[in-house]
Amino acid sequence: MKVVATKAELKELLDGFRNEGKSIALVPTMGALHQGHASLVRRAVAENDITVVSVFVNPTQFNDKNDLKNYPRTLKADCALLEQVGADVVFAPAVEEMYPEEDTRTFSFAPLDAVMEGACRPGHFNGVAQIVSKLFYAVEPDRAYFGEKDFQQLAIIREMVRQMEFAIEIVGCPIVRENDGLAMSSRNTLLTADERERALTISRTLFASLDFAKDNSLADTKAFVEGAINDTPGLELEYYQIVDGNTLQEISQWGDSDYAVGCIALFCGKIRLIDNIVYKNKK
Ligand code: PAF
Repeated sequence: MKVVATKAELKELLDGFRNEGKSIALVPTMGALHQGHASLVRRAVAENDITVVSVFVNPTQFNDKNDLKNYPRTLKADCALLEQVGADVVFAPAVEEMYPEEDTRTFSFAPLDAVMEGACRPGHFNGVAQIVSKLFYAVEPDRAYFGEKDFQQLAIIREMVRQMEFAIEIVGCPIVRENDGLAMSSRNTLLTADERERALTISRTLFASLDFAKDNSLADTKAFVEGAINDTPGLELEYYQIVDGNTLQEISQWGDSDYAVGCIALFCGKIRLIDNIVYKNKK
């Protein structure tokens, strides 16, 4: 496994592989890797000749400077995990390498970016589009792999690829959960033991709501989830929305969409967590 820090080194390496006719995958990450990332990399390795994993904590997607400062940075451990799961190249640039000058590009993914994370974290998806497009230019992958935990991000990246005509296949991969159900996230390491216990309410409630939804209206299902979260001390709900999985717009009845997904964001103490659950997918 090669670890490179500059776009020039990366290009030289990847041009060599491309000249040999090898397919190239990109798994973009912000490091602090866990088994969720490992599953993306394993899939990329299985489906491509060469797998590049980028490890870069992207400053432009953080609307909260403290969140950026506290974001876990664990490159050494990340490389050990990536070696184990068969990554070929790790691209771990410094901020100046990716942003030699301010990126003033603004993107619009309306209406996808106007709701949920887009509404709660102004500028977040613009920053994600800035860095992911830069990574796409730097790597020129055939395929890129993203987790479905960031459900809205995945929809926005697909839209960016469409708008910018990148010839890249976007592969969405299922959420990986801890044995007790908590969705894996780099932020989980920041939870205290007590917060970690409380955070279990999220997945437990979402899974319980799948059963509840069978005999109840969408409004009652939404209220069921909101009530369970609000009743748990230490959890502060930011939103729970049941949306159409393609347009990301809220629906008000089960009959409104063939693809209904419940998306949640909340604070567990000071740590912001997201998760989602698919109620129906007839695509
Ligand atoms: O999902 C993430 O970890 C980040 O948003 C991404 C896609 C690596 C861009 O920084």
